[in-house]
Amino acid sequence: MRSQNEWKKKPLLGSIGLFCFALIFGDCLCPGQSDAPHFETKQGRHALFVDGAPYLILGAQINNSSSWAATLPQVWPALKDLHANTVEAPVYWERLEPKEGQFEFADIDLLVNGAREHDLKLVLLWFGTWKNGQNHYVPEWMKSDTKRFPREISAYGKLLDVMSPTSPANLEADKRAFAALMRHLREIDGSKHTVLMIQVENESGAIGTVRDHSEAANKEFASSLPAALARDLHVSGESWQRAFGADAEERYAAYTTARYINGVAAAGKAEYLLPMYCNVWITYPVRALENRDRASAGQEYPAGGPQQANIDIWKATAPSIDLLGPDFYSEDFTLFKDVVRAYARPDNALFIPETGLNRVFGRDLYYALGAGAIGFSPFGVDYTNWTLDGHEIPGWLSRDFTTLAPMQRLIGKLNFEGKLKTLVEIPGSGRQSVQFGDLDAEVSFGFPQRDGERPPGTKDFSGRALIAQLGPEEFLVTGVDASVSFRLNPAYVSAHNAQVEILSAEEGNYLNGVWQMTRIWNGDQTDRGLNFKNAGSPVVRIRVHQLPLKAVLFH
Ligand code: DGJ
Repeated sequence: MRSQNEWKKKPLLGSIGLFCFALIFGDCLCPGQSDAPHFETKQGRHALFVDGAPYLILGAQINNSSSWAATLPQVWPALKDLHANTVEAPVYWERLEPKEGQFEFADIDLLVNGAREHDLKLVLLWFGTWKNGQNHYVPEWMKSDTKRFPREISAYGKLLDVMSPTSPANLEADKRAFAALMRHLREIDGSKHTVLMIQVENESGAIGTVRDHSEAANKEFASSLPAALARDLHVSGESWQRAFGADAEERYAAYTTARYINGVAAAGKAEYLLPMYCNVWITYPVRALENRDRASAGQEYPAGGPQQANIDIWKATAPSIDLLGPDFYSEDFTLFKDVVRAYARPDNALFIPETGLNRVFGRDLYYALGAGAIGFSPFGVDYTNWTLDGHEIPGWLSRDFTTLAPMQRLIGKLNFEGKLKTLVEIPGSGRQSVQFGDLDAEVSFGFPQRDGERPPGTKDFSGRALIAQLGPEEFLVTGVDASVSFRLNPAYVSAHNAQVEILSAEEGNYLNGVWQMTRIWNGDQTDRGLNFKNAGSPVVRIRVHQLPLKAVLFH
């Protein structure tokens, strides 16, 4: 992944000159402060750096129509109850630019100030040209002038509620508005870093057609591929048809959508260099009995968005987008694992910007963390009575964030260093283990756990454990419906003539980065592993040591 700090790429002398200039004239010159939020990548792992250290987004996305003065009072308490550290909130283009060229920032200020007052960081969602594969947030003056701001046209000639991505007028309008937003953010937040990241558009692509059939699009689709794209994707550049066969139209749609959004993101980054990502309406499998092999582009998902099969084309076409983050609305764990595998790549940090409010939340969160996620966020967290009934966050939803929030910086750091692992319960396997050098952490799911019997597992397969290595023989452990024991890995047992024993197991958590012990676990709490069976999920810092397995007899 590219470094966010593009100043680093400038020649040394130029950088020194710019630095001195910036020192004299303050931050008015720079697109971003040198310590602005940015991504770093190390050995294929990623972290979002905020104020110099990895930051784990324990996020919450508010409902679509909740970024209003009238509704924000119902938003903040829900975020607090969830123990989220970051709020994802929409910015509406129609409100930002109600009259062409006139920008209103009051809504933005309300969000930024509100987040600060409630001790939250902010990810802003640019509801611009695309919102769920449609154009519903473009300003009225654009909607009503279809000549100047062309729409996508379906294969049957229907004018759609989707803006044409081949139109320079559409692109210029979006770029100008987005650049104004980023300029304003730099002015009000460039030194405070309340805003961490920007989502450029929302679930882009087209609903209603596989690709645009406007005259300009037809012409472009009939011509050859851009040479650089054909080279990057190792396909024939002769025609879209030759390169992608039956998928040609959707790949063309992906290219034009990614090209457009890259232009918007680049215009914004030129004003204020923040990390930028696109969320994804992924493709879901079709039901087993249906006589077809996959979902239809433009009907069941927006054609041309960064769905699983379009990742490569998006990566090649939109270098100003730092990551593609899948929205995930399913309880199917196999599918979740596939989606994580698709998006957690050396060139793409894993971030789940939206998930449904369902009971698999904790399982998927743990799994994503184990795959190196930089953040995870349920959708629809506010008390506007839309997605949640009443004014309460259910315990199963807040439980994991409550545990992780006080130590999110450490979790982010350990994950970036490759020292964090998670295990989640799989049906039929009540016990699993994970290796840390010569030690194994063995996790057994469900209670009661009786000596000599297999662990019972849980009814809903909700068992999970998180284990992070703090030192050679020191670990941070938490979990739900699981016990965790440390043993010597079988491959080392005979070679080392050793066994493992607990020295101390402290329950506690971190306060401002400093470990605060509340009690020491021993006896029943540790005899058959660290037992995480309480309603909450305590955090335990355990130190173990090795001693000989067999006594050496002296004569
Ligand atoms: C995904 C979208 O990105 C959100 O804005 C919202 O519409 C949800 N779907 C609703 O489930």
